[in-house]
Amino acid sequence: MARLEEACDVDRFEGEKTITHDELVKRVPGKQALISMVTDTVDRAVIDAGDVLRVIANVAVGYNNIDVAAARARGMIVTNTPDVLTGATADFTWALILAITRRLGEGERLLRRGEWKGWALDFLPGTELRGKQLGIVGFGRIGQAVAARADVFGMRVAYVARSGRGGPSGPPERAPMPLDRLLSTSDVVSLHVPLTPDTRHLIDQPALARMKRTSYLINTSRGPVVDESALAWALKNRLIAGAALDVYEREPIVHPDLLPLENVILAPHLGSGTSETRMAMTDLAVRNVLAVLAGQPPLTPVP
Ligand code: DGY
Repeated sequence: MARLEEACDVDRFEGEKTITHDELVKRVPGKQALISMVTDTVDRAVIDAGDVLRVIANVAVGYNNIDVAAARARGMIVTNTPDVLTGATADFTWALILAITRRLGEGERLLRRGEWKGWALDFLPGTELRGKQLGIVGFGRIGQAVAARADVFGMRVAYVARSGRGGPSGPPERAPMPLDRLLSTSDVVSLHVPLTPDTRHLIDQPALARMKRTSYLINTSRGPVVDESALAWALKNRLIAGAALDVYEREPIVHPDLLPLENVILAPHLGSGTSETRMAMTDLAVRNVLAVLAGQPPLTPVP
């Protein structure tokens, strides 16, 4: 804020909750830059209201909340925050993989209910990761960072490139695969695709039915990539062993059928949530705004 205030007049939304869409539309006129969060829908109405708007700086790597085509048509620049959150998000993906395969959520809930009777040989046995296959759907920066951590846990990596057309070449133990094969052969499937019309409900009922009954699904990408009601059905009927989710179709609402299930970890969109990373994200958004307002190219325009 200090760096922004040095360079420009700042209208900061101070509400306890997310700014409403109406309020955003009302406050955009007369502003040359907009710093938006993933929770802000920057659609055509907001963009049309931006009479002097030059840059929309999203504090996130994903930008499905912004109508980029409409912004570009009006000559606006859209920026995001890639790279700075890659490590934190990959670490958190592993936190979810470990938590679901070692039944951490289930165990913690049981303990808090006062139902733990003490150590027992056959109590809540989890699943080893060593020697198993990690299937990564979306082999961009975060997907590759998740893969880079797999060696520590002795997992081999298979991946589907984001384009679905092969991917960056890697060491031989990293195998590019078509989605169907990756789903049917992986022990853990982790999603790292952006949300686009092509990836909406990429993991639907037929996709879940293709997965092994012993496998786990992890989603730290965007909620609508998974059909939540199909997932709840698959978990309930043990079509897959478990799931760990950080993102949801209608955040902050979670599909009610998921809530009572023991074989799912439900995290509140914490993937990039370290103080260091959140600071780096806001810093990058501010630098993007200041660059554009100074007539320079933005640091990280969306592709
Ligand atoms: C992103 O950057 O896209 C995350 O979902 C927000 O941390």
